[in-house]
Amino acid sequence: MSSGLRRASRHQEEKDDDVPQWIPGLGQDKPKPRTLGTSFFGYVPDAFVEKTPYLPSEQSADALKKEATVEPVKAAEQVEASLEQEIVQPDSIERNGQSAQNRLLIKGGRVVNDDMMQDADVYIEDGIIKQVGTNLHTPGGTRVIEAKGHLVMPGGIDTHTHMQMPFMGTQAIDDFYTGTRAALAGGTTMIMDFALPQRGESLVEAFHRWRTWADPKVCCDYALHVGVTWWSDKVAEEMEELTNELGVNSFKMFMAYKDTWQLCDEDLLQSFKRCRELGALAQVHAENGDAIKENTKKLLDLGITGPEGHELSRPEEVEAEATNRACVLANQVGCPLYIVHVMSKSAADIVSSKRKQGHIVFGEPIAASLGTDGTHYYHKCWRHAAAHVMGPPLRPDQSTPKYLMDLLANGDLQTTGTDNCTFSASQKALGKDDFTKIPNGVNGVEDRMSVIWEKGVVSGKMDPCRFVAVTSTNAAKIFNIYPKKGRIAAGSDADIVVWNPHATRVISAKTHHQAVDFNIFEGMEVHGIAEYVVCHGRVVVEEGEVRANSGMGKYVPTPVFNPHVYGRLEERERANTPCKVERAPYDGPVAQLNGQGHMQEGGIPSQQDAFYTRGPTRSGGVNLHDSSFHVSGAQVNDKSPKRPSVKVNNPPGGRSSGSFW
Ligand code: URP
Ligand code: ZN
Ligand code: ZN
Repeated sequence: MSSGLRRASRHQEEKDDDVPQWIPGLGQDKPKPRTLGTSFFGYVPDAFVEKTPYLPSEQSADALKKEATVEPVKAAEQVEASLEQEIVQPDSIERNGQSAQNRLLIKGGRVVNDDMMQDADVYIEDGIIKQVGTNLHTPGGTRVIEAKGHLVMPGGIDTHTHMQMPFMGTQAIDDFYTGTRAALAGGTTMIMDFALPQRGESLVEAFHRWRTWADPKVCCDYALHVGVTWWSDKVAEEMEELTNELGVNSFKMFMAYKDTWQLCDEDLLQSFKRCRELGALAQVHAENGDAIKENTKKLLDLGITGPEGHELSRPEEVEAEATNRACVLANQVGCPLYIVHVMSKSAADIVSSKRKQGHIVFGEPIAASLGTDGTHYYHKCWRHAAAHVMGPPLRPDQSTPKYLMDLLANGDLQTTGTDNCTFSASQKALGKDDFTKIPNGVNGVEDRMSVIWEKGVVSGKMDPCRFVAVTSTNAAKIFNIYPKKGRIAAGSDADIVVWNPHATRVISAKTHHQAVDFNIFEGMEVHGIAEYVVCHGRVVVEEGEVRANSGMGKYVPTPVFNPHVYGRLEERERANTPCKVERAPYDGPVAQLNGQGHMQEGGIPSQQDAFYTRGPTRSGGVNLHDSSFHVSGAQVNDKSPKRPSVKVNNPPGGRSSGSFW
C-alpha cells in the first residue's frame, strides 16, 4: 500500500525548560559524571548459555565464552584492553542472502535498561552487543551512529500480534511483511504471534503453517504462542512436541468464541495441568463466551445490530468473571498464568489482587486499552465505530486507559502487546448488518512504543527504565529469552532503538507503515520517535526511514521451565504440599446403604451389631435390654463415632435458642 511507504510527519520540539531530568541533552554544556559502563550492568554468570542460538560464527562464540570469564566490575583500562583483543578484520554478515555491515558504534547516547540508565557507547559486532561503556576503541570501518541527546533502549517486544491471521471468514490485512516492517518503524524489534489451529486440527501442523507464512516475510524476529483451541489426548501429546522440539513455551486458551475456539472449564483445567507438566506458560483470552452468546441474542432481538452491540454484549464483568475463573483454575493445578489483552479496570484489579495473594499470574494490557477507549463504538460513523471492534472490547469508561497505565507503572501489570489484527473497511463491512460478523481486531504494532511513551512517560506515570521493562524486558523474562532479548549488555542481541524523546509526530493512517486503512490512534500527537532502529546489528530504520527486507528476521525459540516463571513453583509446592493427619483408623459402624443411597430398613450397621449382643428395637434403636458391660473392657460403644450419651436433642431444662446445642 502506498501510504505504507510514506514517512510520518515529524517535527523537533526543543522545549528545554520543561524537559525532565532524565532526558539526555539537559545541561549538556556542564560536565556530567558518567557512570562506568560495560560490566557495571552486572554480569550474570551463565546468563547467555544456550540462550543465543544465532551465533554467527565460532569466533563469536569464543568471544562470548571469553566474556563469561570477566569479573563483574572491571577497570576501564581492562575493558579497553579486552576489547582490543576481540578486534577482528571487518567483514560482513549474511542473513538470508543480504549482506550487512557487521560493526556498529552507537555513540554518546543514554543507555536505558529496566534497572538503570547510564551515558555510554554501545559497540556491536556480528549482530551481538560486544561492549557497553565509554571511550571504547573500535576498529576502522566501524559505522557510527551519533546518539547524543537520545535514549538507547532495548528494541520493543510486542507480546501479542496476529499477522495475516485467517479469522471470521477473512484474513488480517497486515501480513508478516507489512506488520513487522511497521513494527520496526515504531521501535519494536520482535513480535510474538499466535499459531491458532481450527477445532480438531493438529497444533503442530498449525505451527508449521504459521512458520511457512512468517519465515520468508518477517523483517524482525518473532516467536510463536500456540492456541489450544480444542482438547484431546492428541493435543496433550502435541503440546509436548511443541515445547520439547519446536521452541514453544506458551499456549493460549480461549474462554470465548463459543462454538469455535472456546474451551469448557474441564478442558481448560486439563490444558493448564498439561502446561504445568511441560513447564509452559498458560495464556487465556478471558471472556465468558456463554454469557456473550446469551447477551448477543437479546441485543439482536432488540434490533441492535451496529458496533455498539459488540460492546454491549461483552460488558466488563464478563471479562472480570473469566479472568477470575482462569486465575482460580490455574492456581488449583499450580500453573503459571498470563492474561492476554487486559482491557478493563475490573479484570486488571483481579490480576493485581491475585498477585497479592501469591498467584503466579501476569497481565498484558495492549496499546489500544492504554491509548483509547470504547466510546468510539457509539460514533455515528459506522466505519469508525467498526474499526474499534475487538474482543474483549475497549471500555466506554474513559478513565480505563489511565487506570491500566497506573497498574502497569506500579508493577501490577507487566507487559504490553497490541493484539494487532487489522482489517480494512471493506473487511469490517462483512458485519455491516450484524455486529457479530464484524472481524475483531485493531492496529497497534507500529504505535505501541510511542503511545506508551506518551501516556506513560510523558504523563509522569513511569520513568524510562519502567518503560523499557513494560515494552521489552519483562516480555523477554516472562517468555524466557532474557538477556538475549530485552537488555543492552555485552552478549545480548543487538536489537536497539535510538529514541528521540524530544521529537513529536502525529499518528495517522495516512502516514503509518501498516497496510490497514484506519488507525485507532488517528490524530494523537506523541513525543518519542524511533529515529534509528537496529535489529540484529543491522540499521533497519534510519532517521525514521525504514530499510528492512522481508526474511531478515528469525524465529526465536522460547525454552520451557523458565526460572522467571517456574522458579518459585517447586519451592512453593514443597512448602504447600498438603499434610496427612495421622490418626487411628476409624473402625466404628458404617452405614449400610440399600443401593439407592438410603439406609437399609432397620439398618443398624454391622459393627454396631457386633458391639451389641441384642438386635436393635423394631424402630431401629438400641435395645435397652442390652448390657453395657463387655468382657473386652469396652464400657461404652467405642466403635461409635459419637457416644450415644452425648447426642442429646432435648437437654434437661429445655432447648436453648443459642447455637450451643
Ligand atoms: O479482537 C481480537 N482480539 N482479535 C484477535 C483474536 C484474539 O482474541 O486475540
Ligand atoms: Zn484473544
Ligand atoms: Zn489476540
